[in-house]
Amino acid sequence: MTVSAPDLPFEPFKTKVVERLPNPTRMEREEALVRAGFNLFNLKSDEIRIDLLTDSGTGAMSDRQWAAMMVGDETYAGSRNFTHFEAKVREITGFPHIVPAHQGRAAEHLLFSTLCHPGQIVPNNMHFDTTQAHVVHAGGTPVNLAVAEAYDAVSDYPFKGNVDTGALDRLLTVEGKERVPLVMVTITNNTGGGQPVSLSNFTEVARVAHGHGVPVYLDMCRWAENSFFVREREPGMGSRSIAEIGRAFFDLADGATMSAKKDGIVNIGGFVAVRDATLAERLKEALILFEGFPTYGGLARRDLEAMTVGLEEAMELDYLEHRIGQVRYLADLLDARGVPFLHPPGGHAIYLDVDRFLPNLSADDLPGQALAVELYREGGVRSVEVGAIMFPEGSGSQRPLELVRLAIPRRVYSASHLAFVADVVARVYERRAGIRGLTMTYRPERLPHFTARYAPKGA
Ligand code: F0G
Repeated sequence: MTVSAPDLPFEPFKTKVVERLPNPTRMEREEALVRAGFNLFNLKSDEIRIDLLTDSGTGAMSDRQWAAMMVGDETYAGSRNFTHFEAKVREITGFPHIVPAHQGRAAEHLLFSTLCHPGQIVPNNMHFDTTQAHVVHAGGTPVNLAVAEAYDAVSDYPFKGNVDTGALDRLLTVEGKERVPLVMVTITNNTGGGQPVSLSNFTEVARVAHGHGVPVYLDMCRWAENSFFVREREPGMGSRSIAEIGRAFFDLADGATMSAKKDGIVNIGGFVAVRDATLAERLKEALILFEGFPTYGGLARRDLEAMTVGLEEAMELDYLEHRIGQVRYLADLLDARGVPFLHPPGGHAIYLDVDRFLPNLSADDLPGQALAVELYREGGVRSVEVGAIMFPEGSGSQRPLELVRLAIPRRVYSASHLAFVADVVARVYERRAGIRGLTMTYRPERLPHFTARYAPKGA
């Protein structure tokens, strides 16, 4: 549902608790940038006006979720909250074995340290940074196999998250199941712009992989958003519920990892869900070593109860219309100002197209990071680079596009906040010719974007 202003997303909720937005001055923002070494991960929340760093764990929980927190049964083993959580994840996914974890990368750690061995290859449509890092940590090589359209920022192809199934078949034919422990598909494809995967593409992925005797796993962080796009765009899907569409994906897979900080609308939580009982036992052994007992997985039991409710709320159609509607609203405002971003808009974020935004800067100038810094400088808007710094050369996979992501937290910001963001981005776009590059003054060995430091060029 929208109201009369062009495609203004209607909030299917009202406000019960509010949090004051900080309003740092220009001078305070300049000082904060210097203190942070021009890495926006080093900013403090009081220095940020609108925080679009991530949609992960930053959502607003509902009254029902907060009520669920109050029925936390903090029993070490056998908590009733786990029983509820396990039943809900089984209902959604159909997987019989549910292993809780404190967040997505913990789930990835359990899965990859159990299944992936040195010298092996893991294909994905596109690895997210932590997924890629966990494959590498297990001694494997991540390979990105998204369709060619995923690398074209202008194309309006409806399923840019899709896997190139021909390339997958060729890889599996050459390497065989001995070298490929699993195929992973990320829904939606975060690294490639929050783009969806179609059910027909995933059906083909499963057919090809299973034909080679290789299991298929979903990175299901944004499965409800992916299902929304499938419902809207894939022929014959329009009358199916989000739950049914999601289930159609899970029915084709052997398991899934989840960061419930996304489509679980919680501040912390995740899980691995699998079909195979023997694998589940191995995952639980690793779980006890790294996370905690199998009925709490590194979480307070009340967190499991909040997740049980959040997973259900993430599939509500009016919520998803608002959520995807917010991304489209921001896209429309940016389009009207001529700002270049990856098309079509994704499920959880707008990804600014750095090559077209700052064509005068070279790769050497770290243009994505330079743009993120300018958005903060201009209006206190925090975004994140998704490009050469998040995915350095030699990290194993084909590099994604050079992008700056404006991720929208769930149920947090209003349309006027998004209009403010569009103004800030448009002002930076208008003065783009004067934007200078950055150099990296500190490069950590792994996952550099989190802790690197920079300095302006020519300062
Ligand atoms: N997989 C995908 C596709 C993700 O987007 C993320 C996290 C993870 C796995 C890891 O989950 O953070 O709970 O450990 N993405 C966040 C982001 C951090 O900003 O996109 P986590």
